[in-house]
Amino acid sequence: MRVARGRGARRHADPYRDVDAQPDGARFIEALETRGGTPTQAILRRRFLRFVPVRSGDRVLEVGCGTGVVVRDLAGLVGARGRVVGVDRSRLLLRAARRLCRARPRAGRITLRVADGARLPWRAGRFDATLAITVLLHVSDPMAVVAEMARVTRPGGRVGVQDQDFGTVAVEHPDPELTARIFTGVENRIYENRFSGRRLPGLLRAAGLGGVRLRTDVYQDTRLEPYTKSFLERRAENAVRFGIVDGRTAQRWLDGFTALVAAGSFVLTMNYYGAVGVKPA
Ligand SMILES: C[S@@+](CC[C@H](N)C(=O)[O-])C[C@H]1O[C@@H](n2cnc3c(N)ncnc32)[C@H](O)[C@@H]1O
Repeated sequence: MRVARGRGARRHADPYRDVDAQPDGARFIEALETRGGTPTQAILRRRFLRFVPVRSGDRVLEVGCGTGVVVRDLAGLVGARGRVVGVDRSRLLLRAARRLCRARPRAGRITLRVADGARLPWRAGRFDATLAITVLLHVSDPMAVVAEMARVTRPGGRVGVQDQDFGTVAVEHPDPELTARIFTGVENRIYENRFSGRRLPGLLRAAGLGGVRLRTDVYQDTRLEPYTKSFLERRAENAVRFGIVDGRTAQRWLDGFTALVAAGSFVLTMNYYGAVGVKPA
C-alpha cells in the first residue's frame, strides 16, 4: 500500500457531495464498483433490501444511486412488473450507471436521471419504496433528503436508509493511538457527522414515519480486500493532506497493515445500520 498525494485541505471536503467537480472523477466510478463487487458488501446490501423489503411488482426509487450497484440488484427484485428509478446529482456517475445497467436483464425496467435528493421531481405518493444507501452520510442536510423521500412514497410505502458508521470501525494495528488519530482527524474534516449510521432511526421518526425498524450488519474483512485497501489508503492520503500526520508516518501506518496481512492477522470490521419506516396512511 502506498500513500498518494492529495490536494488542498477544506473542512467537510466530502468529494461525494459534488463528484463532477472532482479532478479525478473516474476514481469514484472505480471505488463504487469495487465496493459493490466485494462479496461481504454484496451480502449486507442484499440483506438490507430483504429487510425493507423490496417486492416483486414494486415501484422503487433509489436516491444517490451512483454507478447503479443497488439499482441493478433492485431490477432483479422488482421483476417484470416492477419499476426502478435511480437519481443522483452526478452526471458522471449516471453516465457510468447507464452503461453498466444496459447489459443487465430487465434493463428496460430501470430509469436513471439527474436530481438532488432534497428536491425530487415527482408528485407525492409515487413510489412503493424509496431508498438511500450510503448517501445520507454525504449530504449536508440529511433531514431534507429523508423528508423528500417520505413525500414521494405512497401512504403505507417504505422509506429505507442504510449507512456505515465510522465510529464503529475496529481495525487491528500495532499503533492504535495513531490509527485513532488518523480516523478521527480525517473523518471530522470530511463528514458532517461520522456517526451517521446510528442516527438513521431517529431521522426516520423525525420525518413522521411509523413502525421504524433497525437492522445492523457488519462488514468484516480479514484479507484486505481491494475495497478495504483503498479505504485505508484514502485515510492515509487525507491525513497527510489535512496535516494530521506527515507522509512518512502515513506510510509507516499503511505498512503496519501490510505486515498484519502477511502474518494472517489482519482484521477490520465496520457496522452498517439499515433503518426502515412506513409512511402513515
Ligand atoms: C457513496 S455513493 C453511494 C452510491 C450507491 N448508493 C451505492 O451504494 O453504490 C453516494 C452517492 O450519493 C450521491 N449524492 C450525494 N449527494 C446527493 C444529493 N444531494 N442528491 C442526490 N445524490 C447525491 C453521490 O453523487 C454518490 O453517487
